[in-house]
Amino acid sequence: MTNAYKIAILAGDAIGPEIMAQAVRVFSLLNQHRDLAFELLPAPFGASAYFSHGHAFPDETKALCDSADAILKGPVGLSYEESKKIPVEEQAERGAILPLRARYETFANFRPIYLSKDMIQFSPLKASVIPDGIDILLIRELVGGLYFGKKDRGVNSEGRRYVHETLEYTEDQIRQVLRVGFQQAQKRKHRLHNIHKSNVLMSSVLWNEVLEEVQVEFPDVEVIHLLVDAAATALCLNPGQFDVMVMENMFGDILSDQGGGILGSLGLMPSACMGPEKAYYEPSHGSAPDIAGKNIANPYSMIGSVAMMLEMSFGLEQEAAHVWSAMKAVFEAGYTTADLNPNTEDSSLVSTTEFGDLVMDRLEALLTN
Ligand code: IPM
Ligand code: MN
Repeated sequence: MTNAYKIAILAGDAIGPEIMAQAVRVFSLLNQHRDLAFELLPAPFGASAYFSHGHAFPDETKALCDSADAILKGPVGLSYEESKKIPVEEQAERGAILPLRARYETFANFRPIYLSKDMIQFSPLKASVIPDGIDILLIRELVGGLYFGKKDRGVNSEGRRYVHETLEYTEDQIRQVLRVGFQQAQKRKHRLHNIHKSNVLMSSVLWNEVLEEVQVEFPDVEVIHLLVDAAATALCLNPGQFDVMVMENMFGDILSDQGGGILGSLGLMPSACMGPEKAYYEPSHGSAPDIAGKNIANPYSMIGSVAMMLEMSFGLEQEAAHVWSAMKAVFEAGYTTADLNPNTEDSSLVSTTEFGDLVMDRLEALLTN
């Protein structure tokens, strides 16, 4: 029997539609060569949706996402100047991304920081620091902390402007994401780095208390506690010490971008945002308005997000592995895009669409062998 899946496609802003156009080709190939029927449901989301529909996350998009089996989201947002044309609460981050995360309680954000041995030329780190490449799974709590806490700004009795922004977590929120961290550690090297700041933040004190309770359920996982600031240094000096890392929302936001830095580009960072009933998949990077419309953005993070969806939402492990192999093979053949190698004038520089062609050729060959 054919397995049919509905996928909401939120292409987003700036480079979003360009890289999304390449990523959805994976579904066409799977429909052709497997007993699968992916139905793609495009919907407006982000700054472009605000201009066309008056809201960054329009009601019709919400309804469509509710009815989908999984959501594929491109990057959203505009340049600083362009964003100013949109009211603060409707700007793509506050008006679309955070409400999407809240709607589906996507508390566990998987951000692989991965560079195969054959791709270490992309990294700014010396080959001697990453002789085996980089292979870290960063798990970021995604629906709590400062991003979702109470906020208030005003003017105090002395006439001075103030702001309050609260970092809020309940023990249940902490426990559920820590369990995901431990489960992933069990599937990998049985080592979990707990990233915290308990020397200063009470939220980290509670986080670590809950961690000690959860740890009892996973006696086969070694826990290493590391302060978030020290973790930032360690990621540069010796990323090989990390396997699975787990942390609260803002620490994860910052360290995952640093992860993109040690890979050489955020364009190499796909991600999965997992909720209790629904998951959505997105590149970890922004919409790069500076390179939009030039057909130079590498679609790796968007195609990789599809690979993560195939595996994590639909259990299509072999197909996901083929997508990764196809992309790896394209890089190994020496092809690259201008955003990843701005200083290369090499003939192996290809456009977004050509990179897509090269990946799909290889993927088709893998699917038909
Ligand atoms: C990310 C982004 C988002 C975040 C923004 C765009 C709301 O930076 O996914 O890392 O801060 O979580
Ligand atoms: Mn971020």
